[in-house]
Amino acid sequence: MPATVIVGAQWGDEGKGKIVDLLAQESDLVCRYQGGPNAGHTVIVAGETFKFRQVPSGIVSGKISVLGNGCVVDPEVLLGELDDLEARGLSAEPLRLSGNAHLIMPWHIALDGASERRLGKLQIGTTRRGIGPAYADKAARIGIRVQDLLDPKILRQKIDTALAEKNVWLERVYELEPFDLDEVATRYEGYAQRLRQYVTDTSLLVDAALVAGKRVLLEGAQGTLLDLDHGTYPFVTSSNPVAGAAATGIGIGPTRIDAVVGVAKAYVTRVGAGPFPSEMEEPTASEVRELGQEYGTVTGRERRPGWLDLVALRYAVRLNGLTSLALTKLDILSSLQELQVCVRYRLPDGSETPDFPAHQSDFHHARPVLETVPGWGEPLDACATVDDLPPPARAYVELVEEALGVPVELVGTGAAREQVLARG
Ligand code: IMP
Repeated sequence: MPATVIVGAQWGDEGKGKIVDLLAQESDLVCRYQGGPNAGHTVIVAGETFKFRQVPSGIVSGKISVLGNGCVVDPEVLLGELDDLEARGLSAEPLRLSGNAHLIMPWHIALDGASERRLGKLQIGTTRRGIGPAYADKAARIGIRVQDLLDPKILRQKIDTALAEKNVWLERVYELEPFDLDEVATRYEGYAQRLRQYVTDTSLLVDAALVAGKRVLLEGAQGTLLDLDHGTYPFVTSSNPVAGAAATGIGIGPTRIDAVVGVAKAYVTRVGAGPFPSEMEEPTASEVRELGQEYGTVTGRERRPGWLDLVALRYAVRLNGLTSLALTKLDILSSLQELQVCVRYRLPDGSETPDFPAHQSDFHHARPVLETVPGWGEPLDACATVDDLPPPARAYVELVEEALGVPVELVGTGAAREQVLARG
């Protein structure tokens, strides 16, 4: 498919990095359309592990890798990842950076941490990378963009203007040290020297690629339930991971998108605070966390495991217009004799619904209606095709497909690129 969106169908951490890496093999361009260094994409190639926060994971395959206008960019993180790539013998040359992407500035990071501390028990549990404050400044039209790096005079002027307000907040509201104009301007001028070579009109680039019949992969970060508009607000990120945002976040029309692949784990996890109806109980939760290594790539925080939630997945199908699903990490459930699947929510008035509640108080009080299904109780390492999967594992995949009315075209049975099995 010429333009394919890959989107997380749950709360992030669905294993998108690996699916993007796989589909990148057959793509010409890989583009990220939102988010920033709050994302954590892990790709394992030939036994070597790459962890990316900012760079599109397609860069490992040497594909043109676009950071679109919908992203927020921390230059320090980005340059660190490019250095790391080059130190490992890979090229940073394929990176293309939109001049309209917004920059994460040091005060965004300071304010993210300070506002979380201030919220105390009510905190969102952000990654503290400055994401929310950077997107807030974008919406308030006081942000600093990548293209501002190209002109030292403009850059200094914008930093000066921003600091006039941000330092008041930092000092008077949060009792923190102010930032110094010269120090910040010099630091960002240094980043500019290195980043200017990558700045490109990425909308034009992607459009030209599509016109030329090239294959473009549009990679979302985080996941559907962390979407600013449609997720479990306020426990969400400050951008739109849903597939529709791929068009605005890259600068192409929605009619250019041909396919939308949702990536879902065979169970669910979420990091940070917020309601989570299908959350597993102990000791299963800890067992799954250990087996699945469910710790944040960016923050190292424990992820909360839950049973596969078909109500939330049905919502993801609707919001993203999913044309297919990739079901990852089936192998993590191999040791469990029985599995539970959340098929409906029970609402406070006693009614049951297959649909994701539109109002937060219903969602906060929703209880899962769980169905028990047999586990497969054996490792999946030796499965080279879906036909090799034990019958209960195949039935599990079919159950998802039937409940959602969307084909599961890829099944993940392990960490390596080869351990993604194609169906159909
Ligand atoms: P922020 O994106 O740092 O503002 O964090 C807002 C919420 O999104 C928090 O609950 C984070 O844990 C969550 N979040 C942000 N990025 C990711 C991710 O890549 N995976 C999972 N959760 C994330």
